[in-house]
Amino acid sequence: MSGRKEWEDLRLRTAERFGEESVFGEGPLDAGLAIVGEAPGREEVEKGRPFVGSAGRLLDRLLEDAGIDRREVYVTNIVKVRPTEKSGGRTRNRPPRAAEIREGLDVLREELGIVKPDVLALLGATPARALIKKSLTLGSDRGTIFHSTLGPPALATYHPAYLLRIKGTGEDYDRLWREVVEDLALARKRVGGRS
Ligand code: URA
Repeated sequence: MSGRKEWEDLRLRTAERFGEESVFGEGPLDAGLAIVGEAPGREEVEKGRPFVGSAGRLLDRLLEDAGIDRREVYVTNIVKVRPTEKSGGRTRNRPPRAAEIREGLDVLREELGIVKPDVLALLGATPARALIKKSLTLGSDRGTIFHSTLGPPALATYHPAYLLRIKGTGEDYDRLWREVVEDLALARKRVGGRS
């Protein structure tokens, strides 16, 4: 089976397994850099595409600052279904559970086995702990290239949703912005086996 056919087949199997509201990855299948987030949110489910809501728009700007064209990057999530809970009659996002992460990992392993990126940029602690090491902390480990359990080298950085959350709270938004841009640029430099 060609890479495209294998990818389409996996996409369909994922929709069958997790339902039509699941969100699969997207991007060129020969991308050197793959970005792995946590899980889709409301807008991602509506559009059926990863990182198209407010965190996605921030990701686009971070990539641009790092000199990376999103169209050349494969973008996906470790969890394929939006994790939600009801609160006061409203549906809200919640952190994914361990079993949801494990199930998502089954798909991600196959997915990235088709794309075969040279390097992974992991957004936030959820994919970083699942794919690098459980004890990872972004404060001390961000921006360091590790071996990932999926094969390609990987670095972790802050999730754009975290930047959105701290904006205007007095925490160092500008410094964290620069750090994420720096980390994305470092990951991009590793494409093609360059160091
Ligand atoms: N946050 C994520 O981790 N992934 C998305 O696709 C959107 C928001």
